[in-house]
Amino acid sequence: VTAEKAGFDHFMLKEIYDQPKAYRDTMGSRISPDGLGVTLNELKITAEAIRNINRVHIVACGTAYHAGMVGKYVIEKLARIPVETDVASEYRYRSPIITKDTLVIVVSQSGETADTLAALREAKRCGAHVLAITNVVGSSVAREADDVITTWAGLEIAVASTKGYTSQLIAFYLLGLHLAQTLGTQTSDEIKETVKALKELPAQVEEILAQAEAIKVVAEEMAKHDNLFFIGRGLDYAVAMEGSLKLKEISYIHSEAYAAGELKHGTLALIEDGVPVIALATQHELLEKTVSNIKEVKARGANVLGIAVEGELELQKSVDSTFVIPKTLDVLSPALAVIPLQLLSYYASLARGNDVDKPRNLAKSVTVE
Ligand code: G6P
Repeated sequence: VTAEKAGFDHFMLKEIYDQPKAYRDTMGSRISPDGLGVTLNELKITAEAIRNINRVHIVACGTAYHAGMVGKYVIEKLARIPVETDVASEYRYRSPIITKDTLVIVVSQSGETADTLAALREAKRCGAHVLAITNVVGSSVAREADDVITTWAGLEIAVASTKGYTSQLIAFYLLGLHLAQTLGTQTSDEIKETVKALKELPAQVEEILAQAEAIKVVAEEMAKHDNLFFIGRGLDYAVAMEGSLKLKEISYIHSEAYAAGELKHGTLALIEDGVPVIALATQHELLEKTVSNIKEVKARGANVLGIAVEGELELQKSVDSTFVIPKTLDVLSPALAVIPLQLLSYYASLARGNDVDKPRNLAKSVTVE
């Protein structure tokens, strides 16, 4: 078992460090050698069928659902198709409007989650084209979907998903680019720029991992608290959701993720002296707004850790401490910003003496509804 962990203390830590490879393997030959675009040769859906898609539904559970929240932004931004996201256990029961021109994307690391599988079957019954993003070749979800994009993260053992999630993000970027190429919603220069930035991500993840020690110090302090908040806007909100789930799963610290602008409509009442707030602020267009939300919590005594892109000095002045991630395109930042949050949860769980890889009450794959 020690050998399987490749010298790491826990599977989760090993899997966090597997991520640069998981990114590279998932991109693999799907990025054209000239770097001009992507080729998803495995997809059966025709260009004509893509042009007919009038809505996309992304359906998943847990961490995979949070990858889907990022996927919504990515597809809407790159391909300009309206996207809805649903947790799989809700989807079937709200009689969603599904037609043959609906693309339903199910996301599942294991490919065996019962709720997700049931949603897939309902979507197929209604005639939708179903595309699965999964990490397990030959899984139930992979077998039953019309199309599959396999994430090449390798076996994920820790209950808390890390490389499973980030490789799903890479799959969404590839899919978003593929749709954009087919629909002509991005110029060839824009596609080239995104592909170039995508290829830089693995090395940038390595840069973040090299600073794990700094996150450990913060995590040990946070582990003393029983309540904390994650805030962010846009894609940062999606990442905040995942950061909060990760922390709850393995540290058992109560946390909530809030769209930063929504805080003042109720939850701000919970902010008092010393409450830790993790503010994700990687989206350049929203930066000013996020800074004003940071000031709202600071004024109530919160202790704010900012997750910021390098060079944003104005933001750094408004928080108590900052963790800096390398520069990338706004749309790609979730693939970097989530890494410090994974490490934060890992070290907070460790500081609390929990069983990191096997948290109480949870299972790696939930095959009952
Ligand atoms: C379980 C796991 C979560 C996971 C979710 C969905 O609840 O504990 O970590 O995100 O299932 O799993 P899937 O395999 O469908 O991605």
